[in-house]
Amino acid sequence: MASERPVGVFDSGAGGISVLAALLRELPHEDFLYFGDTANAPYGTKTAEAVLTLAESVFDRLLSRGAKAVVIACNTATAAAAASLRAAHPDYPIIGMEPALKPASQLRHGGTVLVLGTPMTLRLEKFQRLMEHYGEGAIPLPCPGLMELVEQMDFAGARAYLAQVLSPWRREPPDAVVLGCTHYVFLRPVLAELLPPSTAVVDGNAGTARQLRRVLTQRDLLNAQESHGTWKLETSGDAQALALMERLLAIAP
Ligand code: DGL
Repeated sequence: MASERPVGVFDSGAGGISVLAALLRELPHEDFLYFGDTANAPYGTKTAEAVLTLAESVFDRLLSRGAKAVVIACNTATAAAAASLRAAHPDYPIIGMEPALKPASQLRHGGTVLVLGTPMTLRLEKFQRLMEHYGEGAIPLPCPGLMELVEQMDFAGARAYLAQVLSPWRREPPDAVVLGCTHYVFLRPVLAELLPPSTAVVDGNAGTARQLRRVLTQRDLLNAQESHGTWKLETSGDAQALALMERLLAIAP
């Protein structure tokens, strides 16, 4: 039965593991197949064309493994590839991600909303459109090199990086910070040290998980198994990349 097939999830590396954690919480009876394209990471500093080609190949791989739906657990790949993938597979459920600027804009009290993301996510048209609607007081901050620190679990390095990026707002802290890259969700503990409690830190993971539930429900694709679902992690990278994804799944916020 189609509903018994797994949900495919992918990212350029281990960032989407933070999304997988949210999916497992929201949909504990689903089976998930996660693919981290670590051999080709990072995506965010490549061209949109290059990321489209990479995302198409990962998508095809998940389809060939029988995925009943695919979650693009990567803001960058969504911006570069979701529209083309949807056009090529019009009846197939594809769930993408975008920086959670809309919910963050509701938490703004007349101050600043900082949007952290990869250079590509913040450059492409999809984000520009989001800014037109919800961008009042919002400042995009591209963070090249930050995902690599997460991939190395170098949280001290990430702290130093973010301290530098956030230094102009030390006196007047932002109302909200948007984590517009799934890797950055693992930096919540670091951000909690750098930002006052009055600054909301917002990501799109729970919203993405709810969206997957809605889509599977509408298409009658929810897995009816009573036992807990399973998950499988795969990567184009090496054994170390796989071990990292397992470790990050264990500590995902
Ligand atoms: N995790 C990805 C995102 O959500 C991108 C990281 C990268 O490959 O640059 O944007």
